[in-house]
Amino acid sequence: MNLPTAPSPTLLLPGDAFPPTFEWGVATSSYQIEGAAKEGGRTPSIWDTFCRVPGAVHNGDHGDVACDHYHRMPQDVALIKSLGVDSYRFSVAWPRVQPHGRGPVNPEGLAFYDRLVDELLTNGIKPWVTLYHWDLPQELEDAGGWPNRDTAYRFADYAMMVFDKLQDRVETITTLNEPWCSAWLGYHVGVHAPGRKDFRASIDAVHHLLLGHGLATQRMRAAETTPHRYGITLNMGTADPAEDTDADRDAARRADGMGLRLYLDPLRKGYYPPDMVDELSQQGIALPIQDGDMEIIAEPFEVLGVNFYFGQDFSGVDEQGRTHGDDGQPVVRQVFPGTARTAMDWPITPERLTQLLVRLHRDYPGLPLVITENGAAFDDTADEQGYVADDDRTTYFAEHLAAVAEARNQGADIRGYFAWSLMDNFEWAYGYDKRFGIVHVDYDTQKRTPKQSAVWYRDTIAQYRD
Ligand code: FCB
Repeated sequence: MNLPTAPSPTLLLPGDAFPPTFEWGVATSSYQIEGAAKEGGRTPSIWDTFCRVPGAVHNGDHGDVACDHYHRMPQDVALIKSLGVDSYRFSVAWPRVQPHGRGPVNPEGLAFYDRLVDELLTNGIKPWVTLYHWDLPQELEDAGGWPNRDTAYRFADYAMMVFDKLQDRVETITTLNEPWCSAWLGYHVGVHAPGRKDFRASIDAVHHLLLGHGLATQRMRAAETTPHRYGITLNMGTADPAEDTDADRDAARRADGMGLRLYLDPLRKGYYPPDMVDELSQQGIALPIQDGDMEIIAEPFEVLGVNFYFGQDFSGVDEQGRTHGDDGQPVVRQVFPGTARTAMDWPITPERLTQLLVRLHRDYPGLPLVITENGAAFDDTADEQGYVADDDRTTYFAEHLAAVAEARNQGADIRGYFAWSLMDNFEWAYGYDKRFGIVHVDYDTQKRTPKQSAVWYRDTIAQYRD
């Protein structure tokens, strides 16, 4: 497929900003693009169920068809190739591969990913596999979901099914995408599947997600026939005090603790952050740690996937001027920096990406970083051909790539960058309303049309090839 020769904006980065070895990619996830929800032996995931809850997802949207990628995979791989990227990050749908979340593999489901990997390699694109991007088999949720310890073991079994099939052709395997979203949004806030609102359960989920990551990583490494690159992707922002006061500094510390350190400390240091453990215990909550768990969770891995969308400030005082909420807990109120916003109403804060990457390099040394997601939704207007002149999105990418280059200048070990997303897709609770793609999708016809940002991305990558 040839990309249109649209005028690219002149947002070119310096020619030496990225070395030729830098890994360029685009990313998607299974439930957001595949469709074919009832085909090939796939059973419902928690997202299929959640989408049916009235009011849970914008417009009652669901992933039954999505981008119909399951049926259009070869054309989509051709599209990826036309962008000139090195790698494609996709996720595997657990309920396709192991429909009941336990028990036998479903060969037909696994065969889809086998074909996808072959198609990518034939086209010179490296596959980057995410094992879990939120589509838990519903049967496992019925058995307790991530708050149930058994789910960690089920995850490791499932990981081995994928690994056994693909390890000969896939070098990079990341376990979980954004466990904070699974635990916090899924079990505490309830705006993501499975939509539970139980703080204690969400803390149990944190531990079992991390345990599942460690178990799977250990088992894959033990079974590998050649060395692989293992890792995990976390969503990370920055948490700064809104004002230079003790209360705001403390709120920022708490936000950082619950959002970032609660995951990275056990993964890299082998223990949960003591200040967070303290706070939880004041609420009568303990992480459900059993003997040996922390060693499993701290299993070394080779790459940290960083998903960055925006940074935030925090205040320890609520809008009524109170320092404690009705629940007696100290206030942690997010305050968005006063910058331009995207269609998600998220602030645009590229300088905070530099700040985050340099901080990760400083606080968690020796860990290569790859930006596994970064991008923006805007209210696109497509012309009659489906083309979108998305200056706003293009600028977002240019500014964030410049921020990555700056973090590299400051010494952070950043090895790659994946744009989110290859194409418009099912944006979780926002349904199809929010478009993150660099390729426009007409959901009536399933026609894909690269946006200006795709052309810009292709040209930018090409600049570092020469
Ligand atoms: C991330 C998710 C991804 C997508 C982007 C916008 O949190 O990993 O699936 O929805 O946000």
